[in-house]
Amino acid sequence: MKQPKRYLVTSALPYANGPVHIGHLAGVYVPSDIYVRYLRGRGEDVLSICGSDEHGVPITIKAKKEGVTPQDVVDKYNGIIKEAFRRFGISFDIYSRTSSPMHAKTASDFFKKLYEQGDFIEQTTEQYYDPEAQQFLADRYITGTCPKCQSEGAYGDQCEKCGSTLSPTELINPKSAITGATPVLKETKHWFLPLNRYEAFLREWILKEHGPENGGGHEVWKSNVYGQCKSWLDGGLLPRAVSRDLDWGIPVPVPGAEGKVLYVWFDAPIGYISATKERFEQRGDAEGWRPDWQAPATKLGHFIGRDSIVFHCIVFPSMLKAHGDFILPENVPANEFLNLENDKISTSRNWAVWLHEYLDEFPGKEDVLRYVLCANAPETKDNDFTWRDFQARNNNELVAIFGNFVNRALVLTGKYFDNRVPALGELTDYDRETIEEIPRIKAAIEHNIENYRFREALKEMMNLARLGNKYLADTEPWKVIKTDEARVATILNISLQITASLAIACEPFLPFTAKKLAAMINLSSVEAKWDNIGCMTLLAPGHELGQAELLFEKIEDSVVEAQLAKLEATKAANAAANATVAEAKAEVVQFDDFAKMDIRVSRVVAAEPVPKTKKLLKLTVDTGLDTRTIVSGIAEYYTPEQMVGKRVLVLVNLVPRVLKGIESQGMILMAESPTGVLSVVAPVAEDEESALKAAPVGSVVG
Ligand code: MF3
Ligand code: ZN
Repeated sequence: MKQPKRYLVTSALPYANGPVHIGHLAGVYVPSDIYVRYLRGRGEDVLSICGSDEHGVPITIKAKKEGVTPQDVVDKYNGIIKEAFRRFGISFDIYSRTSSPMHAKTASDFFKKLYEQGDFIEQTTEQYYDPEAQQFLADRYITGTCPKCQSEGAYGDQCEKCGSTLSPTELINPKSAITGATPVLKETKHWFLPLNRYEAFLREWILKEHGPENGGGHEVWKSNVYGQCKSWLDGGLLPRAVSRDLDWGIPVPVPGAEGKVLYVWFDAPIGYISATKERFEQRGDAEGWRPDWQAPATKLGHFIGRDSIVFHCIVFPSMLKAHGDFILPENVPANEFLNLENDKISTSRNWAVWLHEYLDEFPGKEDVLRYVLCANAPETKDNDFTWRDFQARNNNELVAIFGNFVNRALVLTGKYFDNRVPALGELTDYDRETIEEIPRIKAAIEHNIENYRFREALKEMMNLARLGNKYLADTEPWKVIKTDEARVATILNISLQITASLAIACEPFLPFTAKKLAAMINLSSVEAKWDNIGCMTLLAPGHELGQAELLFEKIEDSVVEAQLAKLEATKAANAAANATVAEAKAEVVQFDDFAKMDIRVSRVVAAEPVPKTKKLLKLTVDTGLDTRTIVSGIAEYYTPEQMVGKRVLVLVNLVPRVLKGIESQGMILMAESPTGVLSVVAPVAEDEESALKAAPVGSVVG
């Protein structure tokens, strides 16, 4: 594999429409932070880029819901997210935002270049439009059933269940997310990126260079990433619109594009470039960003969640390829999803552990969450976070292994050697075996991190603590001290060197702990370099240690129970909210509203089934005023023959509605019997009395 000169690491720009939760952290930010901290420890030239994604429909929907402006929304959540990352020790070199002027310019220029090169198709097409809201329904403004996996609630641009990218017109039963209305089609002009033109390039680049059979020279992509890419490529790529009819976003910078903005997935990834530029500009080095994005010796990696694989592996690379001035990513180590207590994390259901809340509730325990999320990272499949597991990993691993080893080594040194590193004497075979394990563990951590296997890497780091713990348990210095002080000096010297190695090795995973531990053993930052792991002279004999502290403390049952109770309360609140919705449906009707309804006794003069439907009949009714057509969903209850000649009640002043191409001019009233059987409400003629007996007017259907 080629040796990169520098690393550029990007982490998915979170939408500034809500705070970040453990799912985001486990999927993207904890792994990327481990990666960049490791590289920095190795003295590599690395830059870690992130920022808020502040455009697109997720933002405007949230604004509408909260009754504030989109700007209010992004200002609020950008602040919350940025601060939470900082407190959690996520060490971005810059956390920017896509509302920055630098980004507007960078994204505009990018679009303009492609436009001028003739890389877009300009096309007027019919798009869904909400006549009530008087707005085109882009992306998340429209939902429906996914045509690929049939799951409900797919968005106009994407199904989050199966990861497919979609066009609104592919959705089955599309509905406006603004008003719930069924949308109509209306013409509008947009710019399309013809992804089909990049298919050959993508096949070569992804399937050949980064596929499982590549002959070296490039990194092989994770199987979940490669698999998604392959199935898109095999399915064939289509042109995708990169502009939208919205009033929130970066204006399309070409003539004749009033009222149109760049599609959020066009502008957001360019945000990685803008943020890099901004970072260098802040340091008075406006051109300094170029090697990061333009030198072939830069290794670019995108850390993302599985729902944005297509944008990072297909769409953005096609954009970069078209543009021509930028490098392509070497890898896109996307993770799967994390669940919470066996249920899908959901912002709308508030089913999440929010980072800012965790930080408030567990001060000083940043590393515990980092540890648990890395240990459970959904690297190859979805995974589950539970509070019991959180407690168990803290108590049985961090406290019992890591903390216990360090504490014993330091306390014994304090007790027997006046808190100074004792001299190393003659080594036993067991000492040598133990010492030889350290470089092996170091290499295993490196190999795993470099292959994006952070869980395995974490396990190996813990193996270093395990090694030390076992060494002390086996050599029992607290017993040997009675007879052989020189031997104890050797044992503790070795234990302290392992501790120093551990302080370096744990830094990418547990940066707060690493810092505390370095202070406890007076390890200078100069010595705390990755390559010093395994060095047995990190702490010279006579070196004075600092103050020993507890690194981790036990988490009691009551703490876990309080968190579980909090989640139970969320469930109860959700159930109550749903009940309120149900109640609202059965809201009382005021007399004035009822009086508006013009209900007439009518006779059915003709009836026939509506073709290709199971439920609909087309009825011709004589209302006494006129003869009109009504399409009614009663075919499950009546045959056309049964209906002809029947007297029914018809709501005649209902707005006409087109069903299956037929205009329905009213509604036949039906009622539900106590046993749930529906029947038409027929006005009673003496001889027909029995027909109505058990049918109070309960519900009315069309
Ligand atoms: N905001 C997107 C999300 O949360 C991720 C954007 S990543 C970028 O799913 F590439 F667009 F920056
Ligand atoms: Zn789907």
